[in-house]
Amino acid sequence: LVIILNTVHDPLSASIGFSILGCAITWRLVPALKDSFLKANLAGKDLNKLDKQIIPESMGVVCATVYLVCLFLFIPFPFMEWFTGKGIISRTEEFHAPTFPHHKLGEFLSAMLSLQSMTFLGFADDVFDIRWRYKLLLPTIASIPLLMVYYVNFGETHIIMPIPLRFLLGRVVDLGVLYYVYMGMVAVFCTNSINILAGINGVEIGQSLVIACSIAINDYLFLNGSSPAVEAHLFSLYFILPFIGVSLGLIMHNWYPSRVFVGDTYCYFAGMTFTVVGILAHFSKTLLLFFIPQIFNFIYSAPQLFKLIDCPRHRMPKFNPTTQKLNYSRVHMQKPLGISAFVILKIFSSLGLVEITELENSIEVNNFTLLNLLLLKLGPMNERTLTIVVIIIQIFTSCIAFIIRYRLVHLFYEV
Ligand code: UD1
Ligand code: MG
Repeated sequence: LVIILNTVHDPLSASIGFSILGCAITWRLVPALKDSFLKANLAGKDLNKLDKQIIPESMGVVCATVYLVCLFLFIPFPFMEWFTGKGIISRTEEFHAPTFPHHKLGEFLSAMLSLQSMTFLGFADDVFDIRWRYKLLLPTIASIPLLMVYYVNFGETHIIMPIPLRFLLGRVVDLGVLYYVYMGMVAVFCTNSINILAGINGVEIGQSLVIACSIAINDYLFLNGSSPAVEAHLFSLYFILPFIGVSLGLIMHNWYPSRVFVGDTYCYFAGMTFTVVGILAHFSKTLLLFFIPQIFNFIYSAPQLFKLIDCPRHRMPKFNPTTQKLNYSRVHMQKPLGISAFVILKIFSSLGLVEITELENSIEVNNFTLLNLLLLKLGPMNERTLTIVVIIIQIFTSCIAFIIRYRLVHLFYEV
């Protein structure tokens, strides 16, 4: 490590190196551990296949572990000047004596603690199949170390209101403790929204990779700017690049036809990585712009998530053995419908978001997920094609996010 420290002077190059290493290790380790996972009963049925084979699940834990090890080994690099003495010598010539940037190290360690806790809780979810209401709590718990460091290092809870809303609350609003509630909710949303846009081969990692690449491109755009922004976005890159690496290593085994499943562990781990960089590098609003498909899927799913419409255990599309294609899955509801279900179905059907089949004593509607809606609008398709369609939508909405962030921003803020 000391030799590497002395030869690699640029932390970003080291981060790229660790990302490539992380990709290679994950790619090799996942197939090597398949049998152990099967033996431990960490496995699931590939429901959208003819033979419904049982394959290893929760492989996200391998990917997250490799990621964390890469980051552990990477910690010294951003602080290299303090270890080699160069930084201290050059800084003592300035007008104040330097001190080691403990706050920066604190950010690193808290981010890793949050990621490690999220991985642990995600794995617990895979093993024990935790119920939905408790699932929402897990990311809140895992984000506590992050919020603590945010409080100590920044403590900033003021937000600048968008121009069109200033007539209501003024230019600057202090959200106080609500800002911490908001950050906790970002963690809950980022993790769970990936977990519910899931269920077909490769879609969990596919969407996460597009979001991660969008974050990396956004970080890159800041690297020639002013000093605090550069530091924040470098921090984000140090976390995002190895994430892209390990995810690429895993998707090679999870792509259609999957040899392994990623499990809830991966969904939580991915969502928490995005939360960590969004909060500590101060771009949580831009981050949410990269989640447009997930925001849509969440709002569309809300009636089922909040049990206003029946929600089966699995809402993933249904495999048709004759055509070998996926069609939208349906949920069966007994008549008479409750008033809330009736109103929701009326609104959704006027927006063209549901297909309702009237039966004698009941009705059937498609499950309210983006995957089912795509199949409803575009017709039945192969599982791999559907994953590719979701990835294309994710890329397209990321382009829209960049346009909003960099072209339309002057409509909302003076920049
Ligand atoms: C969430 C969704 C659920 C969806 C499931 C699919 C909500 C409220 N919950 O539940 O509707 O069905 O994700 O992951 O929206 N599987 C496949 N092929 C894949 C990936 C997963 O068949 O490519 C199946 C396997 O049987 C696997 C199971 O899905 O064992 C994993 O489901 P799990 O992650 O436990 O479901 P939830 O996250 O609780
Ligand atoms: Mg899941």
